[in-house]
Amino acid sequence: MAKSVARYVCQDCGSESSKWSGRCDGCGAWNTISEETGQNSGVGARPGGAVPPGRKIALVGLEGSDHTPRRTLSGIAEFDRVTGGGLVPGSAILVGGDPGIGKSTLLLQIMACLTSTGNTVVYISGEEAIAQVRLRAARLGLSKTGVLLAAETNLSDIVATLQDSVEPTALVIDSIQTIWSPALDSAPGTVSQVRQTAQTLIHYAKSKNVAVFLVGHVTKDGQIAGPRVIEHMVDTVLYFEGERGHQFRILRAVKNRFGPTDEIGVFEMTGGGLSEVSNPSRLFLGERDSNTPGTAVFAGIEGTRPVLVEIQALVATSTLATPRRAVVGWDQSRLSMILAVLDAHCGLSFGGFDVYLNVAGGLKIREPAADLAVAAALVSSLSGQALPDGSVYFGEISLSGSLRSVNQTGGRLRESEKLGFTRATIPKSNDDDAQRSENSISLETVASLASLIARISVGSTGSKSDEPSG
Ligand code: TYD
Ligand code: MG
Repeated sequence: MAKSVARYVCQDCGSESSKWSGRCDGCGAWNTISEETGQNSGVGARPGGAVPPGRKIALVGLEGSDHTPRRTLSGIAEFDRVTGGGLVPGSAILVGGDPGIGKSTLLLQIMACLTSTGNTVVYISGEEAIAQVRLRAARLGLSKTGVLLAAETNLSDIVATLQDSVEPTALVIDSIQTIWSPALDSAPGTVSQVRQTAQTLIHYAKSKNVAVFLVGHVTKDGQIAGPRVIEHMVDTVLYFEGERGHQFRILRAVKNRFGPTDEIGVFEMTGGGLSEVSNPSRLFLGERDSNTPGTAVFAGIEGTRPVLVEIQALVATSTLATPRRAVVGWDQSRLSMILAVLDAHCGLSFGGFDVYLNVAGGLKIREPAADLAVAAALVSSLSGQALPDGSVYFGEISLSGSLRSVNQTGGRLRESEKLGFTRATIPKSNDDDAQRSENSISLETVASLASLIARISVGSTGSKSDEPSG
């Protein structure tokens, strides 16, 4: 029997200490440390502490005859795009996301799709009973597919089942937080359990050449060990995200040892499960009213794909001592920066106003290239004048108020043209790239934020802009 030692483990970041404290030294979070007894550091720990002598390993060069692994396409194009061209045998994929976002639905659909090309797949549900999964399958119309299902949480039983009898192409563990290893005393979902079970499953994946999906809930309050602790162990980390109340879901690769990151797959949650959205721009621009002040269209890039989204701003007189700054789908501190630049270099003060910013459709934008569109939307809302019809904006704003060039100008402009936009406001430094790319969009280049604002006032046909009060 292994020696039991008490350890104190942060349930957020997984750092260990020998005594309890209110605040984790590793990540600085409060009240996340809990006692875990069990075998000292799960894998490789040996009773008695005897370490066998090491064996010599061969050192080789970088060149070799190993061929690139043959990938298995799932048949769901949006998913295959995110993974960089299908599943790699023997890889471990972590699928993270808020509870209820649709992870189980997505994975069941992917598994079902895989069976249609003759693959064996196993779905282990640790959260739902067989009847519940069957009910979902029936709802999705997938009952007749050959997905092998089990409801189990004991890691030893799962591994024993898979070891000899079935050799699947893919295995789903839904979710890693419910699986427990009898070798440890701690409760399922604690850092040591999550780590140990993930390690065992990843070992199984590598030794049997099975693609293993680990589902992990991300909780904001840190009560359950976040799947963060296993991010470094797996080959691919996918996040499934979306706003509650929106039907759009975005699958995003944040780490991928076998393909690009930052690629997104867009899905729509319907009554019959998730359906692919192959033209996301159309969807994010969906119900656009281009005559409203405070909206600007941003020509963005997500991975390799241009995506047009509407940025909505509302600047309203505030009655609060500290006006509100609320942001959905963008970076709060980036908004503060743009407001500061508008104040310092363009003489537009937002001090007495509440500012709300929203990215339509539930998309989360991470590109600094959205700065210009955000600034345009803010100025438009403040002045009460709609931006010119058929315009797109992109460009990064620097603290000095000048505009910095962004990449993939051609792609952004082509997508805009395809969707019927006729004008683009871009940084002056992107002019050459824009001229080289083949499209018929009329370009307005701006060197600084101040010249954009001058243009907005000139370009609008309505009544003269109210001078914003300071
Ligand atoms: P689920 O896959 O169970 O989420 P997760 O595994 O990430 O916790 O999805 C749950 C939500 O999806 C649930 O609120 C209902 C919704 N849903 C639909 O809208 N349509 C469907 O066809 C299905 C199966 C689920
Ligand atoms: Mg689920």
